[in-house]
Formats: sequence, C-alpha cells, structure tokens
Amino acid sequence: MLNGKLLFCVGLFLVLLASSCKPDDSEQLDSPYNLVLPAGFPPMSIPADNQLTEVRIELGKMLFFDKALSRDSSVSCGSCHLQSHAFSDVVNISSGIEGRKGMRNSPPLFNLGYHPYFFFDGGVPTLELQVLAPVQDVNEMDHEFPFAVQRLAQNPVYQKMAQIAYNRDFDAFVLTRAIGAYERILVSGNSTYDKYNNGNSSALNESAKRGLALFNSERLSCSGCHSGFNFTDYSFRNNGLYVQYPDSGRMRVTTLPEDRDKFKVPSLRNIALTAPYMHDGSIATLPEVVEHYNNGGAANLNKDPRIKPLMLTSQEKSDLLEFLYSLTDNDFITNPDYAP
Ligand code: HEC
Ligand code: HEC
Repeated sequence: MLNGKLLFCVGLFLVLLASSCKPDDSEQLDSPYNLVLPAGFPPMSIPADNQLTEVRIELGKMLFFDKALSRDSSVSCGSCHLQSHAFSDVVNISSGIEGRKGMRNSPPLFNLGYHPYFFFDGGVPTLELQVLAPVQDVNEMDHEFPFAVQRLAQNPVYQKMAQIAYNRDFDAFVLTRAIGAYERILVSGNSTYDKYNNGNSSALNESAKRGLALFNSERLSCSGCHSGFNFTDYSFRNNGLYVQYPDSGRMRVTTLPEDRDKFKVPSLRNIALTAPYMHDGSIATLPEVVEHYNNGGAANLNKDPRIKPLMLTSQEKSDLLEFLYSLTDNDFITNPDYAP
C-alpha cells in the first residue's frame, strides 16, 4: 500500500517535473520580427508561409555562413557575398569549391525582398527557390540538395531551431525558407543620398547635387533604367559591353532572339563598394564605367537606344561619380545584426 502510494507520488512528481519543463520550452517560442524600412521605401511583400520571425532569421543567418552547405564543406554563401562589400565579392568571378569558376560576377545582396526575380537573367522567381541554385551549381557548392539537407539535419541546434521556427523537422522547406527570411532583412537605405532625399539638403555637396541632376537628365537617361528608390526598374537591357557576348543573358531563359545579351538592370545603391562591375565583372572601376557610358558602348544589335555617346566634360564626369559615391550606406555594411 505504502509502496504503491510512494510510487504514485514519485509518478506524480515526475509528471509535474515533466510539465514544469513546458514553461521552459515555451520561453523559446518564436516571436515576430519587426522589419523597419527606411523612409521612402514601399512596403515589402513577404510570403504567407515565411513571415519574418526572430528564430527564422537567426537560423537563416547561421545557414548563410555555414560551409557545410557545400559538398566539401569549404564554401558558404558568405564566401562569395561579403558584408563589407554590400554582400558582393571583390573579384570578377568568385571561386566555388576547389577554386572552380562560374561565368558571372557575384552581385550585392540588399533590398532583395523587392526584386521580382533573381539572377542577371531573371531565371529564378523567388528568394526561397534561389537557394537551390548555388548549392547545386557545380562551380559553386556542387552539392546534391537532398544530401546537403541530410547533413545539416544532423545538427541538433538546427533541428531545435527548425522546430521553434517552423514547427517541423529540419528539411528542404526549412533550409530554403530560413535563408530567404535572413535575406529579406538585408535592407539598405541610409546612404548620404538618402539623407539628402529625406530632407537634409546639406547632406550632398554641390558636385554630388550636379551629378544627381545629370543622372536624372534626359541627356544621360541613367534614371531611365536605374530608376525608383532602388535605382533599378528590373528590366532586361543591353548596355553595349560587347558586339558579341559569350553569355547571352536573358535569352538563356526565354530563348527569344530579342532578349539576346540583355541583363537585369542592377541597383546602384552601394555601388562604390561592389567593384568589379557588370554581369561578368569586366569593368574594374567606377570611373571606367562612366567612361563606358560616355563612349556610347559597342554596337550590339540589341543595344538600348539610350546608350549613346554622351560628350561629358571632365567636370560632369567627376560630378556624376561624386553622386554615385553618395549612394554608399555605411550602416548597412557595419550592421552587427547581419554578421555571423
Ligand atoms: C561561388 C560563389 C557563390 C556562392 C557560394 C553563392 N553565391 Fe549567390 N551569387 C553568385 C553569383 C555569381 C550570382 C549571380 C548568378 C547569376 O546571375 O546567374 C549570385 C546571385 C545570388 C542572388 C541573386 C541576386 C540578384 O540580384 O538577382 C542571391 C539572392 C544569392 N546569390 C544568394 C546566395 C545564397 C543564399 C547562397 C548560399 C546558399 C549563395 N548565394 C552562394 C555567387 C555565389
Ligand atoms: C538602357 C538602360 C540603362 C541605362 C540608360 C543606363 N544603364 Fe547602367 N546598367 C544597365 C544594365 C543592364 C547594367 C548591367 C549590364 C551587365 O551586367 O552586363 C548596368 C550597369 C551599370 C553599372 C554597374 C553596376 C554593377 O553592379 O555592376 C553602373 C555603375 C551603371 N550601370 C551606371 C549607369 C549610369 C551612371 C548611367 C547613365 C550614364 C547608366 N548606368 C545608364 C542599364 C542601363
């Protein structure tokens, strides 16, 4: 009897102990992340199945910097996308595993939640799907996606965070969603130009103000393509780098001859940090980019009519450069929330 009662008490104690663990667990519930957008930025649309939360973003950040994603564990997303350079790379073509080289320049990563599609040819429709590409690309991480997921799923920290963030085991859904969540918080909109644009009229010097006017002028038409708050209309254009391109750009996706040699118009935010330039990193410096536009580019069949000789004076060139330099957002490249 007594023993039975003792047993019951011990049992009750264990049940209470077990249930007293529950409040502990619930302390680790996820909480919504409040994404603060810079003044003048439109709302960002975020997929219903991947609303931003603290643990989703934290998990995505850990994955972004985890080399275990690549087949030989030598390369992470962060190897080619460096925060100090607005998440672009400093070489024309980045190295994947075993030093392998692809064919395009690593673009910067910011304000990605506003992009209607990804890659220079627009071949990928969402941030979540984009994650599949570098993991499987032979010249980047060269890892079969299911094997990459399998390896990461063995990490107990990832398993625990997957449960808290997405209420499921770590799988391909969690991997792609979490990285997408982290990428959406990489928002850049606090450059010197933004301070000027938001009312501080002395933020830009006189040369940069003249450069801004030139940028927006009909004569130069830079803002015809590099338009809006993110300095791109995301259209596909040819800006006359070559008569014949080794990489046919948008045509690789659509197969249409009118899309040959056209590339997604890049944002110009943080442009001073993202050298070398163009889809193949073929232009080393910003003054050389300005020279390229001033010369009017090569006679490509699909060259946009706005790319034509500009006859800029040397003063105009330096004014235009001064404006481009004002697009650097130092808070973005030093924000500790983005770092591993
Ligand atoms: C070996 C270098 C390398 C690695 C590793 C790498 N990337 Fe990239 N990334 C690139 C290059 C090059 C492009 C441009 C590809 C294209 O346009 O075809 C790119 C493009 C992107 C884009 C599209 C940006 C835009 O403006 O369209 C995103 C987003 C991105 N990478 C995120 C990632 C993530 C997430 C990972 C890790 C899962 C990753 N990258 C790993 C080199 C790399
Ligand atoms: C017809 C549309 C169009 C016009 C007009 C235009 N650009 Fe571009 N710009 C592009 C495209 C497309 C690219 C990318 C080309 C590539 O990757 O091959 C680009 C690339 C650039 C780059 C390099 C960006 C990077 O991240 O590599 C800079 C800088 C630039 N443009 C500045 C300017 C300036 C300054 C003007 C005005 C003198 C201008 N653009 C006019 C379409 C345009």
